[in-house]
Amino acid sequence: MRIDVLTLFPEAFAGPLDVSIIKRARDAGLLDLHYHQVRDFATDRHRSVDDYPFGGGQGMVMRVDVLDRALAEARAEAEEPGLVVLLSPQGERLTDGLVRELAREPRLILVCGRYEGVDERFIEHRVDREVSIGDYVLTGGELPAMVLIDAVTRHVPGALGDEASPEEESFADGLLEHPQYTRPAEYNGWGVPEILLSGHHANIEKWKKAQRLERTRARRPDLLEPPPGG
Ligand code: ADE
Repeated sequence: MRIDVLTLFPEAFAGPLDVSIIKRARDAGLLDLHYHQVRDFATDRHRSVDDYPFGGGQGMVMRVDVLDRALAEARAEAEEPGLVVLLSPQGERLTDGLVRELAREPRLILVCGRYEGVDERFIEHRVDREVSIGDYVLTGGELPAMVLIDAVTRHVPGALGDEASPEEESFADGLLEHPQYTRPAEYNGWGVPEILLSGHHANIEKWKKAQRLERTRARRPDLLEPPPGG
């Protein structure tokens, strides 16, 4: 899968996406990441990428012309046109379902908004999906883009290694995870649930399922409700 990122801060991506599973996926050629500096597509003397909003109001708005040139250039780097995703608090919520949908795309082009927003004409004519990672406002779309890249990469076949599968995890069946323990079996007087040491696999599986249900009921009862309209 190819992912292009349009951003004013490409340097912000070094680090989080250069370690662990994402690094391995990139090294294995499963994830092909490309960053594009939006400022390189500014044409005026000051290299401005934003301007005051028409009609007044707070803050600055990212310019449609600069973004559009950046997008055209990024797009031209590969044959696949790519799905254009704008990260913004106005977007639809990033859920496990949306992550899986996006992971099926051969190419994503992520646009990181900055300042107070993005000229609506760019959104209307160029953006396919507008995505938010939650109901809070961050200073820009860079961290949300990293979150999206991380979540999507886990669903790229082979990225988690041979045995591991995202199907066996939380949210695949809409439930939270059961608690986990490892050695030592006792630490500081703190034990481990007896059942896990019993070797009785059928009972252990029953216990895990009950724990998952109980946790979900206690912490995220919303996950147990039927989806709206369904
Ligand atoms: N940009 C600023 N806040 C954001 C959010 N919560 N999700 C996606 N992009 C954002």
